[in-house]
Amino acid sequence: MSNLKPAEIVKELDKYIISQDRAKRSVAIALRNRWRRRQVSEGLRDEIAPKNIILIGPTGVGKTEIARRLARLADSPFFKVEASKFTEVGYVGRDVESMVRDLLEVTVNILKSREQDTVKEKANLIAEERMLDLLLPKSQEDVTVKPEDTKEVQFEIVKEDKVQETSSTREKLRRMLRNGKLDTRYVDLDVSDRSMPVVEIFSNVGMEEMGINFKDMLGGLMPKGKKRRKVKVPEAMEILAQEEAQDLVDMDKVVKNAIEMVEQSGIIFLDEIDKIAGKDGGHGPDVSREGVQRDLLPIVEGSTVPTKYGSVRTNHILFIASGAFHMCKPSDLIPELQGRFPIRVELDSLSRKEFERILTEPKNALILQYKALIKTEGIDVVFNKDAITEIAKVAEDVNNSTENIGARRLHTLMECLLEDILFDAPDLQVKNIVIDGNYVNDKFKDIKDDEDLSRYIL
Ligand SMILES: Nc1ncnc2c1ncn2[C@@H]1O[C@H](COP(=O)(O)OP(=O)(O)OP(=O)(O)O)[C@@H](O)[C@H]1O
Ligand SMILES: [Mg+2]
Repeated sequence: MSNLKPAEIVKELDKYIISQDRAKRSVAIALRNRWRRRQVSEGLRDEIAPKNIILIGPTGVGKTEIARRLARLADSPFFKVEASKFTEVGYVGRDVESMVRDLLEVTVNILKSREQDTVKEKANLIAEERMLDLLLPKSQEDVTVKPEDTKEVQFEIVKEDKVQETSSTREKLRRMLRNGKLDTRYVDLDVSDRSMPVVEIFSNVGMEEMGINFKDMLGGLMPKGKKRRKVKVPEAMEILAQEEAQDLVDMDKVVKNAIEMVEQSGIIFLDEIDKIAGKDGGHGPDVSREGVQRDLLPIVEGSTVPTKYGSVRTNHILFIASGAFHMCKPSDLIPELQGRFPIRVELDSLSRKEFERILTEPKNALILQYKALIKTEGIDVVFNKDAITEIAKVAEDVNNSTENIGARRLHTLMECLLEDILFDAPDLQVKNIVIDGNYVNDKFKDIKDDEDLSRYIL
């Protein structure tokens, strides 16, 4: 688990997210607290519950982005769900417990592939032996010697000791295999046939609620589908190594570690929590929203969720909820749930100043993205400073005059601004394009001032 200091966490987030300092601070503290808790002596450790957070802010100001970046930093099990996806237990749809199961599933998969990486070398060695078994016929008569091999093999046949003979042939083959001399040869390989279409249909339809994985269950009952295929040597090596790696991984250990990680440092990001808040306006299934909130309570508070890998305690999972809360307030959530999210952080809505920075500063800044895209056609695009200023200004204006969609506006603007270049790029003669304030103004002049038009286009 990451042991970054809060200031370091904020600094990392700063690389991708502009402003929103308060939100960054509180998620940084929450993350550091997980680490702190683990240093506390055992008796007290269990008593320290995570302080769940609600991020509140208009659309497109970086709520999800903060969570996404945080997850990468934290190296903790992380899972993001839309609260609006859930339905109350007993209704068709996903029940809230599934998020814990999903979190565990993700973690198991990550740990499994990490474990497979560590046994890779060993797996490769075993795969090599199996490959040699495939390549080396049982009896000497079967040896199909290619012309260039002849000399050495004849030399070997002269030898008395048969065992030594085969083993030296084997070593020779091994060398050829390693040097890629056999890359064009084919071998017969039993490839396990993974497609089980019938089973595929079942999964996800409610059954998963029981935490039963149909594939696993039926996989045991049905004969393992194996198909004999002719495969080229390099591909066969890969398949064999993969199989061996899977066999070498101690799944019990992986599962145990995954459960431990989820319980101790898991983070669940509950997006769109405002969608399950508030009184329904008379239409739509009223039962569902409040029901979902009620179902959420025990999970957030701490309960035991059964999964196919074993039960998971949710007491120390950190929940970060987020929502725009346009139509309702956090106080429209049922009181019990409000109480379980003690930290509220409001994100600021973004204006011209931030837009300028968002366009250029983040590591994945939009301007950089478009420059790189157009560069693939051999064209260098330069954005002058006044162009950036103009784009930010237009973004703010359009956000004010139509709908405020925050930084997402920049995406639509950039696409519109560069449309001609993006379309014509492969055939353009000029290899350097400078975009300045005038260019931007020309592009947006007609659209911007016409509110109806900008509603449709920008
Ligand atoms: N403060 C910011 N700094 C950098 N980029 C940002 C910022 N805010 C938003 N963006 C960009 O805008 C896009 C949308 O942001 P994000 O997904 O975080 O919105 P959100 O706050 O979750 O909105 P919603 O309530 O609609 O889910 C992202 O792709 C992100 O790159
Ligand atoms: Mg979002």
